[in-house]
Amino acid sequence: MGEGFIRVANTTDIPPSKMKEVQVEGENVCIANVDGKYYAIGSICTHEGGPLADGTLDGYEVECPWHNSRFDVRTGEVTSPPANEPEPVYEVKIDGDYILIKVKGRIESSPPQFELELLEKIKVEGTDVMSFKFSKQSNELGEDKTPSVSD
Ligand code: FES
Repeated sequence: MGEGFIRVANTTDIPPSKMKEVQVEGENVCIANVDGKYYAIGSICTHEGGPLADGTLDGYEVECPWHNSRFDVRTGEVTSPPANEPEPVYEVKIDGDYILIKVKGRIESSPPQFELELLEKIKVEGTDVMSFKFSKQSNELGEDKTPSVSD
């Protein structure tokens, strides 16, 4: 079987115009059957994480059940907002009755711009207030920022 392809479902599991979510190597993938041809894109909506496989498939467009963003299952592109980030696309191969997909060298998301490291968590005496101090903070006077509780 071709390199990198993983068997994820049986073709009979996903009839035409239907979708199914599968997990492959820790990734959630939505497999869609459009007129007997299978496509695979990420199944977690790039808007707020809606489950695309639970949405509706209209031609080549999958509509998120949460806020109706639409994605093209061939390209992963957004075809209707509110989402504005495309879904990842996976290669699909059919082998007999099986659907295989390839999870390409995972594209690590770029490192965060700001990395905040929690240095201290201080319980402020006599109150329910916690003071948090982060490494990114230039102002060492964490206490000043602590909201005070008056009785
Ligand atoms: S979570 Fe999918 S459109 Fe908002």
